[in-house]
Amino acid sequence: MFLRKELPVRLANTMKEVNLLPDKLLSQPSVKLVQKWYMQSFVELLDYENRNPEDSHTLNDFLELLIEIRNRHNDVVPTMAQGVIEYKEKFGFDPFISSNVQYFLDRFYTNRISFRMLINQHTLLFGNDTNPAHPKHIGSIDPTCSVAEVVSDAYDTAKMLCEKYYLAAPKLKIEEFNTKAAGKPIQVVYVPSHLFHMLFELFKNSMRATVELHETSREGLPPVKAKVTLGKEDLSIKISDRGGGVPLRKIDRLFHYMYSTAPTPSLEHGAVPLAGFGYGLPISRLYARYFQGDLKLYSMEGVGTDAVIYLKALSSESFERLPVFNKSAWRHYKTSAEADDWSNPSKEPRDASNEKL
Ligand SMILES: Nc1ncnc2c1ncn2[C@@H]1O[C@H](COP(=O)(O)OP(=O)(O)OP(=O)(O)O)[C@@H](O)[C@H]1O
Ligand SMILES: [Mg+2]
Repeated sequence: MFLRKELPVRLANTMKEVNLLPDKLLSQPSVKLVQKWYMQSFVELLDYENRNPEDSHTLNDFLELLIEIRNRHNDVVPTMAQGVIEYKEKFGFDPFISSNVQYFLDRFYTNRISFRMLINQHTLLFGNDTNPAHPKHIGSIDPTCSVAEVVSDAYDTAKMLCEKYYLAAPKLKIEEFNTKAAGKPIQVVYVPSHLFHMLFELFKNSMRATVELHETSREGLPPVKAKVTLGKEDLSIKISDRGGGVPLRKIDRLFHYMYSTAPTPSLEHGAVPLAGFGYGLPISRLYARYFQGDLKLYSMEGVGTDAVIYLKALSSESFERLPVFNKSAWRHYKTSAEADDWSNPSKEPRDASNEKL
């Protein structure tokens, strides 16, 4: 009963916001396709508004519909990314539109994360395929998620990928600081797949930077370090590498969707790895923020980068952070960019968007 109200509401919020995008972007085929998916799912869900929720057939149909919708929306992120690329190829780079797109995609993808979270909870709890491997999980939530275990799982997976490309990978060193119960492993109520996603992205980035900088050095690869700490309020996970870092000027840019410099990926045959879109960091930050956490990058150019994932230590504080469609959101799309109010004699070259990151 909760879902049949809440899911259409979340779809409607995001569909209203899609409509505020500039026409030139809305008219790209990929954006239209995404809109069509949302429209269809919305209509199909509305059909359940007046059905009897006690009826077992209704319940079963609803379950099947949710699975169908989840599959339909599988490729929303790469397809939307494709739409942005199509737009950029036709119309070039526009700073005002770029900042709108950034604002929009953060909200649109957060909405999608939340939508899938709700669907997954339902299909895991009420579907037929219960997961005997994780009897203690509540749907996709692990009430005693061991952070260091997820860290080493994510490392192992990234390591395999790294070795495939570079034939070598840096080692991992994990440290834990539990200020609440010294020596005890740090646990949290969390969705392990979200945590895995973020850590996997950070490890891939750190490994790539490390290998590319030290490939030819005699000393071998400096290890990637992970530090997990638990305080009263924050559970923080720091991934540190010696991969040469990123200059401060570029740090913000790494979280931008429209600044991706990777070669245009093709969307053929449905098999769409995210690699190359430059979406690793921005999407990971959305996962962190979704439960009131954050993801930040601190870099020292020439040396290396620290990436920190902040989670809420207390489950009572990790509630959903959701975009809402209201007047303030509307204003974001309609107000034109203001003039810079700080002196800036050394403007970046106009085609900064095409610069190699
Ligand atoms: N630890 C790091 N050290 C150095 N550069 C980094 C590091 N992490 C990220 N970067 C830079 O930030 C860019 C963006 O990272 P991001 O993970 O968002 O995208 P990507 O790695 O290019 O592509 P993908 O979507 O496959 O992750 C990288 O291309 C890289 O240039
Ligand atoms: Mg990456």
